Amino acid sequence: MPIDIRAEAARYYDCNPDCVDDIAFYRERIPGQAANVLELGCGTGRVLLPLTGVCGSIHGVDISEAMLALCREKLARAAIPPSKARVEAGDITRLDLGRTFDLITAPYRVFQNLETDAEVDGFFSVVRKHLAPGGTCILNVFKPKSDRKGLRDRWSDGSEYFSWEQPIEGGRVACYGRNARIHPTRMILYPELIYRAYQGDALVDEATLKIVMRCYYPEEFERLILDHGFRIIQRWGGYAGEPYGEGPELVIQFSE
Ligand SMILES: C[S@@+](CC[C@H](N)C(=O)[O-])C[C@H]1O[C@@H](n2cnc3c(N)ncnc32)[C@H](O)[C@@H]1O
Repeated sequence: MPIDIRAEAARYYDCNPDCVDDIAFYRERIPGQAANVLELGCGTGRVLLPLTGVCGSIHGVDISEAMLALCREKLARAAIPPSKARVEAGDITRLDLGRTFDLITAPYRVFQNLETDAEVDGFFSVVRKHLAPGGTCILNVFKPKSDRKGLRDRWSDGSEYFSWEQPIEGGRVACYGRNARIHPTRMILYPELIYRAYQGDALVDEATLKIVMRCYYPEEFERLILDHGFRIIQRWGGYAGEPYGEGPELVIQFSE
């Protein structure tokens, strides 16, 4: 496994109050009580845990041992047995679990963490390899808030900005963002998230997470899925029923 870029920041992941409200959406897309679900990039189990009650079993894969450790803790605390939910370390661009699933998901923009075309191609091969006959995959990215020029302009700044703050045991954690850089033609963002934990006014911890967010515009995202040989079943513009292209998210369900 490569270095875990989330080793220090993972403990603040679940504090984010601005996270998308997508759990009900995924619950409703489970194709039946006996369905086997694969979550690619399951992280701390934010979506995985609530789905355990509505499917046969769910298998999570993530590249970050720190995120998985938190997920395993939550599964243990909730006494969810391994027959219902299992998670393991793995790279979702080169995975072979040797079994197939009725539904594959990658909630909260996991797909945008894939920087290169080779990783994207690898991801789609992984999806194909793990889809059961009749199975479907739901992928999500955010819809960029501006056109390419607007995005380049917004990302030329590089200064730090306040993002959110939440109480934590004994104090509070504040998250700041920094638009570190953008690849000007491939529209790949390189944001930095800086978490600062305070007790009273004293800074007691600081963790920085540098990630990759590759951007996709609505037609481009659809085209990418079609060009990888899949058939689009349904599309949404967000988790509140927005039409595709008209909401904050791009969500596509597809199959072979
Ligand atoms: C924004 S988090 C989403 C976590 C979870 N799906 C959720 O909805 O809360 C992105 C996750 O994708 C994982 N990830 C990114 N690239 C990956 C890769 N190549 N293989 C496996 N996991 C990956 C990260 O470690 C991280 O936990």
